[in-house]
Amino acid sequence: MEDKFKEALFKDSDQLGAPKFISKSSFVVMKFDADSVSTKNHWETIVKLVKNRLDNQLIPIIVHSSLSGVQRLLNKIINNPASTNSKNILSSIKDQYYSLAASLNLNGETILDELYAELEQLVSSVYLIKEVNTQVHIRIIALGKLMVTEIGAAYLQSQGISAKQADSRKFLTSMHSQDTKKISNYLSASCDFSSDAALQSKLIKENKVILIQGQIAKNLSNETVLLGQNSSDLTASYFAAKLQAYRLEIWNNTPGLFSTDPQIVPSARMLASLHYDEAQELSSATNNILNPRCIAPLRESNIPLFIRSTSFPELNGTVISSVTNEIKPHVKGICIRNGLTLISMDGVNMWHEVGFLAKAFTIFSNHGVSIDLVSTSETNVTVSVDSSQGAMTKSSEELLVNDLKDICSVRLIKNCSAISLVGRKIRTIISQLAPALKVFEEEKIHLMSQAANDLNLSFVIDEQQGSRLLSKLHSSMIGDNRISTIFGDSWEKIYSKKQNIEYSKTRPWWVKKKEKLLKIADTRLNAYVYDSETVIESINKLFNIQNVDNILYAMKANDNPELLKIIANSGVDFECVSPGEVEWLKKSVPNIDTKRILFTPNFAPREEYEWAIRENLLINLDNLYPLKAWPEIFSGKDLFIRVDPGQGRGHHEHVRTAGIHSKFGIPEFEIEELKNLIASADANVIGIHAHSGSGILESDNWRKIANTLVRVAENFPNVKTIDLGGGLGVPEKPGDIYLDLEKLNQTLSEIKKTYPKLKLWLEPGRFLVSNAGVLLTHCTQIKGKGEMSYIGVSTGMNSLIRPALYGSYHEIVNLSNLGKPQTDLMTIVGPICETGDKLGSDRLMPLTFEGDVILIANAGAYGYVMSSNYNRRKIAEEIVI
Ligand code: LLP
Repeated sequence: MEDKFKEALFKDSDQLGAPKFISKSSFVVMKFDADSVSTKNHWETIVKLVKNRLDNQLIPIIVHSSLSGVQRLLNKIINNPASTNSKNILSSIKDQYYSLAASLNLNGETILDELYAELEQLVSSVYLIKEVNTQVHIRIIALGKLMVTEIGAAYLQSQGISAKQADSRKFLTSMHSQDTKKISNYLSASCDFSSDAALQSKLIKENKVILIQGQIAKNLSNETVLLGQNSSDLTASYFAAKLQAYRLEIWNNTPGLFSTDPQIVPSARMLASLHYDEAQELSSATNNILNPRCIAPLRESNIPLFIRSTSFPELNGTVISSVTNEIKPHVKGICIRNGLTLISMDGVNMWHEVGFLAKAFTIFSNHGVSIDLVSTSETNVTVSVDSSQGAMTKSSEELLVNDLKDICSVRLIKNCSAISLVGRKIRTIISQLAPALKVFEEEKIHLMSQAANDLNLSFVIDEQQGSRLLSKLHSSMIGDNRISTIFGDSWEKIYSKKQNIEYSKTRPWWVKKKEKLLKIADTRLNAYVYDSETVIESINKLFNIQNVDNILYAMKANDNPELLKIIANSGVDFECVSPGEVEWLKKSVPNIDTKRILFTPNFAPREEYEWAIRENLLINLDNLYPLKAWPEIFSGKDLFIRVDPGQGRGHHEHVRTAGIHSKFGIPEFEIEELKNLIASADANVIGIHAHSGSGILESDNWRKIANTLVRVAENFPNVKTIDLGGGLGVPEKPGDIYLDLEKLNQTLSEIKKTYPKLKLWLEPGRFLVSNAGVLLTHCTQIKGKGEMSYIGVSTGMNSLIRPALYGSYHEIVNLSNLGKPQTDLMTIVGPICETGDKLGSDRLMPLTFEGDVILIANAGAYGYVMSSNYNRRKIAEEIVI
């Protein structure tokens, strides 16, 4: 049996196909995540997959999530029952469902109207009573899912598949007692998953593809319950066990489980196969890749789990089963979990005190705080608790510490990360870990713990160091392990292959203009090259957003005079932050009308404001101080007000410009005072502005900013403009999404509908210039050091500081050998005397030699403008083509 089973597992070489050998029943449970059910393309893939399973005499049972982002939006309504915004949220949810139906050539009204009306009614009643009880909460979430089932079943039928939708609540019953006071029984229930012969024969008789909803079930009193967050995996696993399925397939956005978090370490490798134990450990030690609760039902019935991706259906993904033919133990994954708090308890001789641990653990239990890792010594017990999910609030933490103080002295260490090495028999490989553990030499390890099941070795360190150490550990333990049956391709490689296919349709400009670039590099050691056509393309993309009335370019991103001219000539206006920028703009674009400039200084001296007023610039004021201290200079002047939108966003902490820890903007709670100051200074507010950060890829950001701005604008009757700031991101690393400009347009159209008189402005920097610029440099030498391999290039952090300052990812290619097989993992470093002088770590590169031209992409924004002559090295010169 074991061998045949194994054969079946790995014989999935027809990629989309299922193996011919049928081990148990003919059911295959297929779970599709939110991304997989949200687009027409993915539904077409689902149809292909389902037809393939049917051709192989299998009966697919489909479990799905809500549409992408809908769960979050519904939770928002639930968490803010009194918000007037719920109506807007609901209508954007409606748009999403009905436009998906339309894209699949289905009649949205016939399929969805009834369910949507019910949802609308529930949301209105919530708004009326300004409260959501648990049952209403659950019904709202359930409706989001039922609407997908309706669309899915109708679409499969339209494609000639005999399919029907069913309600999961008919089949899954929660095992919890009906203690109505215990909310977890309703929001995080567990169900019976024993083999269900009656259900099996009913579904075999029906012989139809059945679509059911993830996450919902019923309890013994027939009430709807939820199985917890991200629990569609769990629903699928329960069904697989009840049906004794031949296999469970989980189809996600990511193509499998990876050796570490690819968002932090793009060289993370895909794991080909894992034992249930390892998968359980890996999924528990990371956040949100696979729900760890789904392993037990599968393990019990020995059902293999295939993790695949609708975006990459050609990849085999990760197989999780009881089969393992590995003889040697291996570290399979390195996981990071942030947001931990350590509680260190000291006492003299506590270890010998009978019952100390029992007393301490009872206190934790009384406060409902679950302990994660533990380490003990003669005089100290330290435990970690996960505070990231809001499990421990500030007040519950204080109460817990107070109680603990009765039995020992207590110290809290906050903002920690746990880094865990996961693999079977980890104890036996501790000696091999020695070189890798060198990365901890300079870092304080607060706690170290080896799991009793011998699958996990964890280190708790300061959160600030987490990502860096993760990347180093991965590089020394897994990243370099090139050929292996355990590790598949890296995330970076998988995405660059996909991008290459997309490049062949829409190749970046620098591929098309390769020869020209090589020629430029012939006569220069280092150069920033900007492609004017790409800048114009980006400008046009923003001009195509119909609901934006004006675009201002934040010239701090790139102030190359030729580009400034191109941008000015295209009709884009400017946002400047200093007299230097204004003077530079005037010099670069002679005769520019100063009415086209918004001046947004920050902590500028009085003289600068006086200068701006003499220059007739429109000032964007971001602090009350100038109005309090020098009101006379603003008398009779029109002003913009920069508001702090409360929550910062962006690619790195340093570029998030909102919230109390950011120095920018006037907080909403100062608006009353501002009104008085404006009145006594006799100034006139004509615009409200906010900028929440830089490198943002979710269009929802500008919806949130707009909500704040219109609220503030209501205090100033002469406001004609709201400026939503910049921050529009561009994809940088493999797997990054494109900012959805159409969605942004829709968001803005809603604001326009409600406030037709307001003009809407955007002030992007990066979006206009980032991918138009590349940094060309030359390979100076290659170096190997232990397991590290370096490509040295002739400029580094002096020309491009972003990787060192923010850990930013820039694609790096060998332009001289473009298209050659990428065979080696290399770290690309410059000539500056700092360890941080790295342009990219662990990048797949082709064979590279001295003199090859190396191209660093997406370097048009915040590249040259942030460069320096550090080490007295020359900055790469700028060329516009
Ligand atoms: N408006 C204001 C008020 C700003 O402060 C900024 C950027 C922008 C607009 C333009 O943001 P963008 O669209 O370019 O994201 N050096 C960092 C970025 C710092 C952004 C500072 N403010 C980086 O290299 O990522």
